[in-house]
Amino acid sequence: MMKISPSILSCDYGRMAEELKDMEICGADYMHIDVMDGHFVPNITLGAPLVKCIRKATDVPFDVHLMISEPLKYIDDFCKAGADIITFHTECDSPIDETIDKILANGVKASLTIKPKTPVEDIFPYLDKLSMVLVMTVEPGFGGQSFMEDMMVKVSALRQEIEKRGLNCEIEVDGGINEKTIAVAAKAGADVFVSGNAIFSSADRKATIENFKKIAEENYCK
Ligand code: DX5
Ligand code: ZN
Repeated sequence: MMKISPSILSCDYGRMAEELKDMEICGADYMHIDVMDGHFVPNITLGAPLVKCIRKATDVPFDVHLMISEPLKYIDDFCKAGADIITFHTECDSPIDETIDKILANGVKASLTIKPKTPVEDIFPYLDKLSMVLVMTVEPGFGGQSFMEDMMVKVSALRQEIEKRGLNCEIEVDGGINEKTIAVAAKAGADVFVSGNAIFSSADRKATIENFKKIAEENYCK
């Protein structure tokens, strides 16, 4: 099943709870929550206390993307706040195995991600423990950037490796997803699509999400 994970980075922060509820009604499969610390990336967003508050707004699973230098320090906080999947970067300063194990010990799904310049093979040693891998299709830090099509070789390589090992691991793409680029990403083997600007700025969010799913289904691995 193709999943859409709207990024709340593009929502109205003053009305976040309503925006989440609206995404649930519009058919979101996950809610993508971008956490930035102003150190790992040049932008600051939100922390675990806010995640705890907005957890009450919807039952849609929280897909928390940690763009922070020391994720290990904050895993317990985000798990307690209500994260369902936690993604962190291989380029961070925390030990990777220990961070994954901490997420799993909390009963939360673990996911790893890589910046555009990092090879996808850096993920392979951890693949067996992961429920999802996120391939960044922009430099992390800001919404509204252009999709990097040259990242699709990573998605294809990952899809091959996952099939070869017979794993149940989703492949998510994040950055610049719209009705054109979602087809390209689905073709390469992605099955979870983050989208901020394209969904939140659309006049009919429900139709946009439905259309995204349809395009992804039609193009998946073709
Ligand atoms: C970028 C974030 C993305 C971003 C996607 O650092 O990780 O989740 O919000 O936004 P769009 O879809 O606008 O590129
Ligand atoms: Zn993200």
